[in-house]
Amino acid sequence: MDDIATLKDELLGAINGADNQTDLEAARVSALGKKGRVTQMMKGLGGMTAEERQVAGPALNALKDEIAAAIEERKSALEAAELEIRLATERLDVSLMPRAQAAGTIHPVSQVVDEITAIFGDMGFIVAEGPDIEDDFHNFTALNIPPEHPARQMHDTFYLSEPEDGSEQMLLRTHTSPVQIRSMMAGPPPHRLIIPGRTFRCDSDMTHTPMFHQVEGLVIDRNIHMGHLKGCLQEFARAFFEVDNLRVRFRPSHFPFTEPSAEMDIGCNRQGGKMVIGDGDDWLEILGSGMVHPNVLLHCGLDPDEWQGFAFGMGIDRIAMLKYGIPDLRAFFESDLRWLRHYGFSAFDLPTLAGGLAR
Ligand code: PHE
Repeated sequence: MDDIATLKDELLGAINGADNQTDLEAARVSALGKKGRVTQMMKGLGGMTAEERQVAGPALNALKDEIAAAIEERKSALEAAELEIRLATERLDVSLMPRAQAAGTIHPVSQVVDEITAIFGDMGFIVAEGPDIEDDFHNFTALNIPPEHPARQMHDTFYLSEPEDGSEQMLLRTHTSPVQIRSMMAGPPPHRLIIPGRTFRCDSDMTHTPMFHQVEGLVIDRNIHMGHLKGCLQEFARAFFEVDNLRVRFRPSHFPFTEPSAEMDIGCNRQGGKMVIGDGDDWLEILGSGMVHPNVLLHCGLDPDEWQGFAFGMGIDRIAMLKYGIPDLRAFFESDLRWLRHYGFSAFDLPTLAGGLAR
């Protein structure tokens, strides 16, 4: 049995000397693999006499177990050492100051949404949202735009491909107005909602992008009239543009989902190639509005004799350009960090009416 003892020393030497998983695996194969040295000796048992086997058998089995245990032990030691190295090299000091270079800013669209919601939040409005992918009912029919209505052409709608299972063809919402419908159907009035979101139309030039942003407003209650609409929107315009006595005017307009409908203009001055809001005697259109059409209320299960309301819709990107003097709309969506650093806002300055909208 001398050679078992020598073999054991030799194999344990190789196992404990292995300083990585690859060497350890090689040592395992050379001892316990199909052609390994312990395996070969076990095969030799068959050629022994019964007495020889009675001694060699248990000795070899013990050797095999001992070697296997040594391999396991070495393996855990190597794994623990590898983990130590990784922990040491991949350490991250979370208390380090962030690199100034990596700091982002709040995009003007997000900033303007925050400003608008702060102003309307102060008047008791709450924020509502709806899906970007809509069906025909919410985007058109319930808004009093039946099939074949000419307003459908004006919307330059993006349609999703027709589903093969015959289910309804969906579209990308062309305005935030479908959220009026969703909100009125979701719960009973009164409602006082401000609804920002992405909208989509097949259009692209200096002042149009296929994806743009709108904010919708909706008030539904008893005895609501045009005076509420005017007062609310004039108050909003003065707060948003931060011009106390900003002039506003309402011009008759047409939207299928409001009756009567009006567009709101604000006073401005375009002389000298520079637009100044609140000065001079020029006008600039900023939003569409009107009293919610009785048919829209009926589509949402509301009795127009009991409930009335007003709604408005405004292009966020456009008023962001106006307020912050940003010339090209397309740059809004190019994700250029230099542009964002120039036009972006600090994440630490939350717009509030008390603290100031933008600093
Ligand atoms: N949805 C209209 C548009 O996209 C805007 C609007 C909303 C007008 C609500 C009146 C009332 O042009």
